[in-house]
Amino acid sequence: MRKLLELLSDGNFHSGEELGEKLSISRAAVWKAIKKLQALGMDIRSIRSRGYQLSEAIELLNENSIYQHLNSNTQEQLSKIILFDSIDSTNRYLLQLDEVHSGDVCLAEQQTAGRGRFGRTWISPFAANIYLSLCWEFPEGSTQLIGLSLVMGMAVIKALHQLGVADLSLKWPNDIIHQQKKLAGILIDMTGDANGPCRVIIGIGVNVKMPSTVNHLLEQAWTDLTTIINQSLSRNKIIAFILNELFQTLPVFQENGLTAFQNEWLAVDALYGKQVVLKSAHNDIHGEACGIDERGYLLIKHDDEEQAFSAGEVSVRALEMEDK
Ligand code: BTN
Repeated sequence: MRKLLELLSDGNFHSGEELGEKLSISRAAVWKAIKKLQALGMDIRSIRSRGYQLSEAIELLNENSIYQHLNSNTQEQLSKIILFDSIDSTNRYLLQLDEVHSGDVCLAEQQTAGRGRFGRTWISPFAANIYLSLCWEFPEGSTQLIGLSLVMGMAVIKALHQLGVADLSLKWPNDIIHQQKKLAGILIDMTGDANGPCRVIIGIGVNVKMPSTVNHLLEQAWTDLTTIINQSLSRNKIIAFILNELFQTLPVFQENGLTAFQNEWLAVDALYGKQVVLKSAHNDIHGEACGIDERGYLLIKHDDEEQAFSAGEVSVRALEMEDK
């Protein structure tokens, strides 16, 4: 199926005969494969006299194209890239591997059970967005992880800035926002011992070109990179830029923790000074967001008293944000 998609990816017409010959399969088999791609959401039209055509040219994920944009620091630390056409979840895949190493990266064209925070589904249509997971080991245990998700969000923003995407901020703890709409999210899974060595899987989903057909499935106000910059960007290049930032940031974070990044948070904090509602299982806390403390907890001022809230216990909702 991938070979067929590669042949169609230029956006031109290709006859069933030509495709069959190139793939060494019958025309009927080509037709069946086309049906499968259409079922994945690929917009392929067929005209009897001309053949099959994708509604527009697409760029598939490609390891060599990603490598072209990796800097030497990333190339040294990147252990391997595992690339799937379709997988349930890139985070889950790395989590269940017995043999997984710091620096292993998993990517997919599509996730059939993409996972978001708070048990939500992360809508992951085929060849549209970025679904990336990276494994990293912390030898000194989970206390080393304080603030990791915040710092990963900052790293993704830096990578996107380098690609010309401006006006991005972070809604605590790690929703990447453009003009109050969600562009990207981060999900960190951890395995191992709280006191001994532990391993995290850092999962990053970035909306690049969300097809309008999935609009009704999305729970939140959302945006994508193509809408923001009004032109198409190479997913392979974006992935490489994100990896460059992650591999630059993770060793610094491992060495120095959140303190090394606390000032940077001020520059990207989407909630600072805003009235927010913090939802927890028992009650809602209303107050003014006042940044984060040294653990990465959200500070909320209420009745002149500042309280800190941890990522694990709460969800946050700013009144000004269109969170459904
Ligand atoms: C969020 O809810 O904001 C977090 C979304 C995280 C989505 C990414 S996509 C790659 C990785 N694999 C998953 O199943 N989830 C994360």
